[in-house]
Amino acid sequence: MKIVMVGSGYVGLVSGACLADFGHDVTCIDKLEGKIEALKRGEIPIFEPGLADLVKTNAAAGRLSFTTDLSGPVSRADAVFIAVGTPSRRGDGFADLSYVYAAAREIAQALDGYTVIVTKSTVPVGTGDEVERIVRELRPEADFAVVSNPEFLREGAAIEDFKRPDRIVIGTEDLRAQGVMGDVYRPLYLNSAPILNTSRRTAELTKYAANAFLATKITFINEMADLCEQVGANVQDVARGMGLDNRIGSKFLHAGPGYGGSCFPKDTLALIKTAQDYGTPTRIVETVAAVNDQRKRAMGRKVVAACGGSVRDKTIAVLGLTFKPGTDDMRDAPSLSIVTALQDAGARIRAFDPEGMEQAKALLPPEVIYCADAYECVAGADAAVIVTEWNIFRALDLDRVRSLMNAAVLVDLRNVYRAEQVRAKGFTYVDIGRGV
Ligand code: UGA
Repeated sequence: MKIVMVGSGYVGLVSGACLADFGHDVTCIDKLEGKIEALKRGEIPIFEPGLADLVKTNAAAGRLSFTTDLSGPVSRADAVFIAVGTPSRRGDGFADLSYVYAAAREIAQALDGYTVIVTKSTVPVGTGDEVERIVRELRPEADFAVVSNPEFLREGAAIEDFKRPDRIVIGTEDLRAQGVMGDVYRPLYLNSAPILNTSRRTAELTKYAANAFLATKITFINEMADLCEQVGANVQDVARGMGLDNRIGSKFLHAGPGYGGSCFPKDTLALIKTAQDYGTPTRIVETVAAVNDQRKRAMGRKVVAACGGSVRDKTIAVLGLTFKPGTDDMRDAPSLSIVTALQDAGARIRAFDPEGMEQAKALLPPEVIYCADAYECVAGADAAVIVTEWNIFRALDLDRVRSLMNAAVLVDLRNVYRAEQVRAKGFTYVDIGRGV
């Protein structure tokens, strides 16, 4: 099949490379000439495990190509995916759909023969209708269908998630388009991934509902963690006890500093706005978003408390900056709020992250000192804070860490260590929700 991916960002690139790996002929398109030239040379603009190899292999096999020219590939395509960004709009929090609609207009001009236009970007309910209207208006005679096919990839595990999905959601009532989408994902049938055929609007909402529910699960366990600290209970055991109930499930019950990233914060906000617009506010999601925002900054206060009530003129070592391990993505990372809160309280910040420091430099206050590794980071510090659970922070030489620090205080916002283990080394150790 001939497939075009409009937008070679995170979703477009991963989806394009994986579809090429299934044997399809895929063209990835982007407006940024520099990005396309780099991709042609095999340089990947994002950090995602396994992606560079996948791109290289499929490009070498002639199944994956990159170009800034949309019209040629779209005119020959069976399916054209729209995988451009949908950032939160400045000011009102709605998803900014200008890139999606611009892509729709360009695609419309190039259509030739029956083509399925697929929205892969996370888009509010009704966006597919608008894409269809735009294309129909520009090309009344064109033979096409617009399908919603949301993606459920996690950064850091995106290739695995694409190739072994829990489900594939295909939103269209057009049977011909359903057939084309079936062919696109046929290799996955072999892995018996369930295919859910729904209406277009249902598919669009399913994506937001899934992300909002996961964000709710995390926020719920984070509140339980706070309660555990007060009543002397252990949140990890509470999560285990809850998660063994199949109706609840054990995943996404890790208490931490609050969720971040490019999806949950943006998508919860967009869902809240859409629901308000339709006069059916999603009160639970509104609360989740507000509680999570407050939590990130509250983690700064937790560090202050661990330091005896003040961090003025103290040095704090921040271990991990990205919103989670396995990515260089700093968008809405808890570290942004934590570092700012600590700096506002008068602390000097030293920081280390294996992948995210370049991105962090643009977002964190300029006074932050960046270090080459965890040990350099903790040198002379009055407290060390694990903000992101990178594997290299799971096996630190704690004797060495303690000997390098000015005061042996470890705040573990991801519950990476066991309290006894760290306290036995002479640390003051503060974790999340493990009162006992
Ligand atoms: C998320 C969803 O998991 C994907 O299914 C979805 O496709 C994607 O958004 C998207 O909409 O594009 P992602 O943002 O890459 O994926 O990252 P997650 O692994 O979901 O983590 C999000 C945040 O939640 C991180 O800050 C992580 O540290 C936090 N988290 C996650 C917790 O604090 N506790 C948990 O138990 C799980």
